[in-house]
Amino acid sequence: MSEQAIQLPTAGESTFETFDRIRKRGEVVPIELPGGVPAWMATSYRAVSEVLDDKLFSKSATRCPALQDGTIPADWPLRSLTDIDHMLNKDGLDHRRLRKTISQAFTPARVAALEPRIEKIAANLIANFPSGDRIDLVSAFTTPFPVRVICALFGVPMAAQPRLKDWTATMVSHTSTAEQAQNAMAGMMGYFTELLECKRREPGDDLTTALLHADMENELTIDELCNMLWIVIVAGHETTVHLLGNAVVTLCTHPEQRAKALAEDRWADVVEEMLRYKSSVVGALMRYARHDVTVAGVDIPAGSMMMWYGGVGRDARHYPDADTFDIDHDHRDQLAFGRGPHFCLGAPLARLESRIALSMLFNRFPRLSLACDPTDIEYAPQISTNGPLELPVRLDSTT
Ligand code: HEM
Repeated sequence: MSEQAIQLPTAGESTFETFDRIRKRGEVVPIELPGGVPAWMATSYRAVSEVLDDKLFSKSATRCPALQDGTIPADWPLRSLTDIDHMLNKDGLDHRRLRKTISQAFTPARVAALEPRIEKIAANLIANFPSGDRIDLVSAFTTPFPVRVICALFGVPMAAQPRLKDWTATMVSHTSTAEQAQNAMAGMMGYFTELLECKRREPGDDLTTALLHADMENELTIDELCNMLWIVIVAGHETTVHLLGNAVVTLCTHPEQRAKALAEDRWADVVEEMLRYKSSVVGALMRYARHDVTVAGVDIPAGSMMMWYGGVGRDARHYPDADTFDIDHDHRDQLAFGRGPHFCLGAPLARLESRIALSMLFNRFPRLSLACDPTDIEYAPQISTNGPLELPVRLDSTT
C-alpha cells in the first residue's frame, strides 16, 4: 500500500464523517483498523460488486495469514467479530449447510405472518412513551422495538433482553477492550446455551424451537447452534436499531419527503431509500482475497483484508443524484443487503419491521421534530453499523 491509509476510526470525527472521506478518496481505499491493522475498503458500486464475488474473496479468516500467524495479536479487539465461527464467516458447503438449517425455520411465510405481532410491539411502545413532549427516541423506541421483535421471534424472555443489548453494544464498539469484547461474547454464548436447553425441554412457538427442529436433519453441534443464534439475533437488531435512528433524523431534516410519505403511504419506499441513502451497515466486515486480485483497477495482494462500504448507494458513478434523499429513486439494484450467497437472511424482516415502525411513529406524531441541531447528534463508536446514540425529539402530538 503506497497510498496513505485512512485510519478507521479517526479521533475527533464521527464514523459517518470518516466513511465520507473514505468514499470520496476512491473506489478501493487503503485503511488502517484499530491496532494499526492494514485493510482495504471497497466503496463504489463496481468495486463492491467485485468484492461480493465469492470466487475472488473468501469469508473465512483461515484465508488471512496475518490472523493465523500471530502478525495480528490474539487480543486484537475485532477478533471477537472476525474469528467467530458463524455462517457469515464461512464459505461454500460449510456456509450452505448452516444457512439451509436456519432457512428451514426462518421462512418468508413465517416472516409475513409476523406483521400483527410486530404492529402490536410498536403500538405498545408508542403508547408507553415517557411523559413530556421531549423524549429520547433511541431509548424509547428505535432501540427497544427491534430488540423486542427479534427476541419475541426467538423466544427470548423480556428479562434477558437488556443483557443481550448490552453485550451486543460492547462487542461492536471500537472503544471496548479485547477483554471486554471477549467477556461479552462469553456471556452471550452462555445465555444461548441455556436458551437452547430450555427450548429443548419446553418447545415453544418460536424460531429457536423451529431451529432445533430443523437441526434434526442437519445435525449441528451445540457451538454451531449458539453461533447461529448469535449472528441472527445480533444482526437481527443492531442493524435495524440504527436504520430507524438514521431514518428519523433524515425524515426530520427532509420535511417535503416526509410529507409525501405520509400523504401517499410510501413507507416501504422510505425504507428502501434509507438503505440507499444512509444505511445502518457502514463497514461490512470482513473478506479475504483468495489470490492476488484487481478490484476496480486496484491491485490487492492475496490474503488481504477487505471491507465494503454499506453506503455504496451514494456512489455518484452509479446513481446520478446519489446525495439527494428522494423516495422516488429506483431501488431495483439495491446493494445494502449485499449480494450472492451471504445476501442478508433477514432482509424481508428488516423491511417489514422498519416500514411498520416508521409508519406508526409518524402517523401518530405527524409533527415530530428534532429537539437538537442535527449536527449535535452523537453517533455510536462503531465501524460496522452506525446510528445516533441519543435522539432528543419533540413529539408535538396533535391529540
Ligand atoms: C436494516 C437492516 C439490515 C441491514 C442493512 C442488513 C445488512 C446485511 C448485509 C449487508 C449482509 C451481508 C454482509 C456481507 O455479505 O458482507 C447481511 C447478512 C446477514 N443478515 Fe442482515 N441486515 C439487516 C437486518 C437483518 C435482520 C433483521 C436479520 C435477522 C435475522 C439479519 C440477519 C442477517 C444474517 C444472518 C446475515 C448473514 C447471512 C449469511 O452469511 O448467509 N439482518 N445483512
